[in-house]
Parts: sequence; C-alpha cells; structure tokens
Amino acid sequence: MSNSVMPILPANRIPKHVAVVMDGNGRWAKSRGLPRTAGHEAGEHALFDVVEGAIQIGVKELSAFAFSTENWKRSPEEVKFLMGFNRDVIRRRLDQMHDMGVRVKWAGRPGKLWGSVISELERAEEKTAKNKVLTLNMCVNYGGRSEIIDAAVELASDIKKKRVNPEKISEKKFGEYLNIPSDIDLFLRSSGEERISNFLLWQVAYAELVFMDVLWPDVRRETLWKAIEIYSQRERRFGNA
Ligand code: FPP
Repeated sequence: MSNSVMPILPANRIPKHVAVVMDGNGRWAKSRGLPRTAGHEAGEHALFDVVEGAIQIGVKELSAFAFSTENWKRSPEEVKFLMGFNRDVIRRRLDQMHDMGVRVKWAGRPGKLWGSVISELERAEEKTAKNKVLTLNMCVNYGGRSEIIDAAVELASDIKKKRVNPEKISEKKFGEYLNIPSDIDLFLRSSGEERISNFLLWQVAYAELVFMDVLWPDVRRETLWKAIEIYSQRERRFGNA
C-alpha cells in the first residue's frame, strides 16, 4: 500500500466531506499481545496521515469519530486513557494542524467530558478559526441521535421565542441546528465492520459507504485514496432515476 500513488480524478469525483470511523485499534493491539490502549496510540499516526492525504487529494472536510456517547461503557481504565489521549493529541498536534491550514472544530456534547479535553478543543477551534484548507471535525463525546435531539430542543426553543416559524422549517434550516451542518459524501469505516454506529445519522442520508478491511492503526493516506477511487466509480443519483 505504501508505494501507491495518489489517483488523479476529476474534481467532481472527489468527495468534499469524508467521515471516518477509526475502528480496529483494540484488535490491532490484541493481535500483537499489547494492551488496547497501544492500539489507540498507534491510531494517532493513522489519523494524521489521513488528514495529510485528504489535503493532498482535495477533500475539504473530514469528520473523525474519536469518542462516542456510547464509549463511556468501556472499562474505566480505557475511558480514562481515551480522555487523556484526546486532550494530549489535540494539544500536541495543534501547531502542525495550524501550519497545514486545518480548521479544527469540535462536535459533541460537553456532558461527562473532562474539562481539560473541552478546553483543548476550544483552544484549537480558536487558534485555527480562519484556516481554510481543510476542516477537521473532531467528534468527541459525539452521537448522531443526541446531536439530532439537541438540535430539535434548540429549534423548539427558537420556535417558542418566535424566532422561527414552524411552518417554514426546511431540511436546510434544521441542518443549521446540528453540530455539523454539511452532508457526508464518503463514509469510510476501517476494520471490516459494516455499521454506521450512530455516527452522523442525519448527514449520511446520501453518503456512499465504503468499508475497508484494514485495522485503523494500519490505515494510511493510501487507504483513503483507495476508498476515494471506489467512491469515484459509484453512481450517485440522490433519488433521481
Ligand atoms: C475504535 O477502535 C476506536 C476508538 C473508540 C477510539 C478512536 C481513537 C483513535 C483512532 C486514536 C486517535 C485518536 C485521536 C484522539 C486522534 P476499537 O477500540 O473499538 O477497536 P476494536 O473494535 O478492535 O475493539
């Protein structure tokens, strides 16, 4: 894989917005006799290689599932590791992302998230707010259903305050209340599992789903490019005949 070159594709065949489910860290670690946390650590390099590959090929927005609203069910040790790890990765990678022109955005609920994770995410959002090369949505304590519920609650409150006319709620209007308003073009999940797992439920309505049989720590930019090649060969009809 590492020797493959970037495919040259017409601009209209490159997905604007890619969602990645970074799955398979635990299995990668287990197969090496390592603790699960070693798999997450190895996943950091994969994510940033994918970010670089996304920029090279012309993707404009990448949404990465770093911690789900369901991940609190994991062992307290793993949850604690993932909290600290998210905070440290964002802190450690901030200058690199800024230099690459990446705009970092956080999607998710504050809820039980560590204060230090929230403050690193907010610092990253602030520092990179004007960057235009690629938007990286870090989905931390994110769940698709909770995002839709939160949007509905906020919209209901705006209706009550007469800021919004309920007769005039369009899909576009509702989308504005979500953390991530833009549609997903390509939904990529690693590890061979074929599930959405409550990721970006509203936004995947017309996404092309591509499942790669590679564990996340082994994913590289070439894996993204291969998925984009598969995507470019799909016929997207959006309900048309
Ligand atoms: C899923 O693999 C992975 C996660 C729940 C955590 C995602 C974190 C990373 C990919 C590391 C990079 C993170 C940041 C913050 C940049 P799994 O643990 O469910 O693996 P398994 O399905 O093999 O058990």
